[in-house]
Amino acid sequence: MTLLELDSVTASYGPVQVLDGVSLTVPENGSVGILGANGAGKTTTLRAISGTVRTGGRIRFAGRDIRGRRPDQVAALGIAHVPEGRGTLSQLSVRENLLVGAYMRKDRKQISADIDYCLDLFPQLRERIGSRAAALSGGEQQMLAVGRAFMAKPKLLLLDEASLGLAPGTAKTVYEAIRRLRIESGIAMLVVEQNANLAFTLVDTATVLETGRNVLTGTSAELKGMDEIRRAYLGG
Ligand SMILES: Nc1ncnc2c1ncn2[C@@H]1O[C@H](COP(=O)(O)OP(=O)(O)O)[C@@H](O)[C@H]1O
Ligand SMILES: [Mg+2]
Repeated sequence: MTLLELDSVTASYGPVQVLDGVSLTVPENGSVGILGANGAGKTTTLRAISGTVRTGGRIRFAGRDIRGRRPDQVAALGIAHVPEGRGTLSQLSVRENLLVGAYMRKDRKQISADIDYCLDLFPQLRERIGSRAAALSGGEQQMLAVGRAFMAKPKLLLLDEASLGLAPGTAKTVYEAIRRLRIESGIAMLVVEQNANLAFTLVDTATVLETGRNVLTGTSAELKGMDEIRRAYLGG
């Protein structure tokens, strides 16, 4: 079953159109990558889904047309966005950030068990539970951003360059935890990455964007085998 479908989506900032017909589908429990160089339109594609940029075309989620809905309405339908640059609340503690993630939930009793699950997934956060987010390392902030999104109990997670600015070992740790989360929770994921090697550890299929359009779509195995992907995104 298809969970999310983008069909010929366009997006503009003021008069400047930056998406020129992006199409992709994320199956229920699936994980799909968006690859592409800087400025290709990856972040804007996630913003089009979240409702923070003006869009055209068709965006369907869980059987509903969601294009043009407000960000809070999109979130309420079960889409959690971990933005580029993480977006944790810097003056709040780790625990408070996780609780903020859960603010729309009705199943209040389950919340402390889910906080515990987050801290299992990211043991470094357990040691920093009372620290302000601003005092965390970049890797810990990324873990917290993912944990906060998980606390919303979404059906779909939008993940924007979770590896950006992290040391390779830290990025790998973060991706391993997200992979475990995917397997254990079944949350579907749409994963933007410039580091295709990392993306391929998490996604089943991916699409490559260039100047606001899809230029290639395939399974991770197919894409990994292509010379142009290796040259552009896999360092040889
Ligand atoms: N707020 C904005 N206002 C105007 N142009 C923007 C804005 N954000 C991004 N852009 C432009 O839109 C294009 C796509 O950007 P973006 O989606 O951020 O790409 P990516 O995430 O793939 O690096 C780029 O040309 C970028 O300069
Ligand atoms: Mg981006």
